[in-house]
Amino acid sequence: MSGSLLVDNIGELVTNGLGEGPLGIRRDAAVLVEDGRVAWVGASAYAPAADRRLDAGGAAVLPGFVDSHAHLVFAGDRAAEFAARMAGEPYTGGGIRTTVGATRAATDDELRATVRRLRGEALRQGTTTMEIKSGYGLTVADEARSLRIAAETSTETTFLGAHVVPAEYADRPDDYVGLVCGPMLAAAAPHAKWIDVFCERGAFDVDHARAILACGQAVGLGVRLHANQLGPGPGVQLGVELGAASVDHCTHLSDADVDALAGAHTTTVATLLPGAEFSTRSPYPDARRLLDAGVTVALATDCNPGSSYTSSMPFCVALAVREMRMTPAEALWAATAGGARALRRDDIGVLTPRARADLVVLDAPSYLHLAYRPGVPLIRKVLLNGVPQ
Ligand code: NIG
Ligand code: FE
Repeated sequence: MSGSLLVDNIGELVTNGLGEGPLGIRRDAAVLVEDGRVAWVGASAYAPAADRRLDAGGAAVLPGFVDSHAHLVFAGDRAAEFAARMAGEPYTGGGIRTTVGATRAATDDELRATVRRLRGEALRQGTTTMEIKSGYGLTVADEARSLRIAAETSTETTFLGAHVVPAEYADRPDDYVGLVCGPMLAAAAPHAKWIDVFCERGAFDVDHARAILACGQAVGLGVRLHANQLGPGPGVQLGVELGAASVDHCTHLSDADVDALAGAHTTTVATLLPGAEFSTRSPYPDARRLLDAGVTVALATDCNPGSSYTSSMPFCVALAVREMRMTPAEALWAATAGGARALRRDDIGVLTPRARADLVVLDAPSYLHLAYRPGVPLIRKVLLNGVPQ
């Protein structure tokens, strides 16, 4: 769709830029969109003329959510595993291999349909950018096709060949690391922007994780890491040492981990995934400790069939506020600008001139309603790259 579009009569505009408070709020505002970008932001009364108009009717407008952590390429589901957990079974990550089996057996079109279904679901809930990981293929061909399919839907694609050691390599993990760093990385890299490792007891230890991430960096991939989800460990500090864009989960942190993330020269974001604690009935990460130490925090869904089968960023915002004691403003920032930092993007997560025109019109007068009215479909309209969806 060409021509300019004016979104006006906005009661509360969250810019994450200049304006009131940490969210850069403007009242009675308007946003002019041209060529998929924000061209102007200001008072509705002084808005320039445009080819088309979208009347926000006094509602709140926000940057679209940036979901920086999702596993969408898989087949099957693990509802029975969820039911067993709710009856007292612990989550160990062991179910990943079940999904690997189902994913390998699926056709390309089946995988593609799942990615599109979940991406569509997220879009209807206000997510305008979604990172997508591989990690349920774990063969050269299955990781490559997972990323090829992911890249049809997102530019933020992540090679997670080091999710777990697959059953056929169970007694020779060094050989699997060799495969990941060699032929699997070579096949995956053309379709990936990032590399990720599940650095955890039972998955990959710190030496394997360092080796795999270094191989990824050597071919130009950015680093992100699953770290300190199921117990304390070296993952967070490894991520900071390697200059990772983000370390994700951060559920079990030592003082040294927090100090590393809060370091003056640290650019690594701590991405919290409260959907995983919700769905595994685990203690939530201590978001207050991170925020009070000055760490940059992002929120993401971790959408996957095992530990967090939700595509809803509003749900994660509500959990962050209620269960992790983030303020509504901190949670919204983390779900938008924080996610953008975790993807090293400065063109999304904000509504300021030259940013991508990815925005959400709420069915509510304030962003506060995202946590105040949990579970309610509050997304009235989504603009993606300036185009109404
Ligand atoms: O981020 N922790 C590792 N990976 C996923 C879970 C994957 C699964 O259980 O299928 C996560 O929680
Ligand atoms: Fe994950």
